[in-house]
Amino acid sequence: MVQHFLADDDLTPAQQAEVLDLAAALKKQRYDGPKPLAGKAVAVVFEKPSTRTRLSFEIGIAELGAHPVILDAQSTQLGRGETIEDTARVLSRYVAAIVIRTFGDDRITALAEASDVPVVNALTDGFHPCQILADLQTVRERKGSTEGLVLTYLGDGANNMANSYLIGGAMAGMEVRIGAPAGYQPDPDVVERAKRYGTTIVVTDDAKAAAEGSDVLCTDVWVSMGMTGAEQRLADLAGYALDEGALSLAKPDAVVLHCLPAHRGEEIAAAVIDGPQSAVWDEAENRLHAQKALLTWLVQQA
Ligand code: CP
Ligand code: NVA
Repeated sequence: MVQHFLADDDLTPAQQAEVLDLAAALKKQRYDGPKPLAGKAVAVVFEKPSTRTRLSFEIGIAELGAHPVILDAQSTQLGRGETIEDTARVLSRYVAAIVIRTFGDDRITALAEASDVPVVNALTDGFHPCQILADLQTVRERKGSTEGLVLTYLGDGANNMANSYLIGGAMAGMEVRIGAPAGYQPDPDVVERAKRYGTTIVVTDDAKAAAEGSDVLCTDVWVSMGMTGAEQRLADLAGYALDEGALSLAKPDAVVLHCLPAHRGEEIAAAVIDGPQSAVWDEAENRLHAQKALLTWLVQQA
């Protein structure tokens, strides 16, 4: 069985911790670290736009000694309707791993089922697990550990980031709270998946109660890639911004995360993302280290 990383819980909590330990070690030896992928190639396929994910995978793969092949799906035969399964079979003959950013989770599952090499989720409609690894690395750096902390996410509680915070955060031993209005709350299946790890999971439409006493406050865009009805979404989510009011309710040393790109004045206030408690630039850098660790770990399982 090939080890894939399609959602946060494709790792066990122990494996997640192992990857995060390795990420911290690789951060300390940025250019003179191990080259476990020397002589190999890794494909990175984009069916949605990206800045950070493209940078971090392209550079990270090169730093692991491999050749990154970045494929904009629209300029490949995928854009002309070649199936995801046939694409997986062909890529498997060339590369050591396939990283993909796509739409439905059914699409990445189909790719993984037809692939002979590890498949990594670089964002789907359902999950953004590589981002959560970087976020957990950032929390570890700021707080020493994730165990027992309260992580609160405000905003669109049904999107890929909310889902990955729920599962990945619970796996890291955190109480995870989602503050989101009706219609924007997580799917009960995802909440059940998060609850398996035994930490407290809270879903509420009371943003203030959610923020109260938090160690980590996070948010994400109100209109994710591929979503429609932007005007309605912005109106519905207006009371769920990560603003100075929300930050004042959290612990005085709370850390602020945002996966970026951000919309100042919508889901996050400028004073918060650009303020002293924001860790968003470390978070963006940690994509590189966390993904290098993940790829190293995945190819070691083969
Ligand atoms: N956070 C994140 O995934 O950013 P990009 O969309 O720029 O890759
Ligand atoms: N929820 C956002 C995350 C962007 C990195 C989206 O899917 O567009």
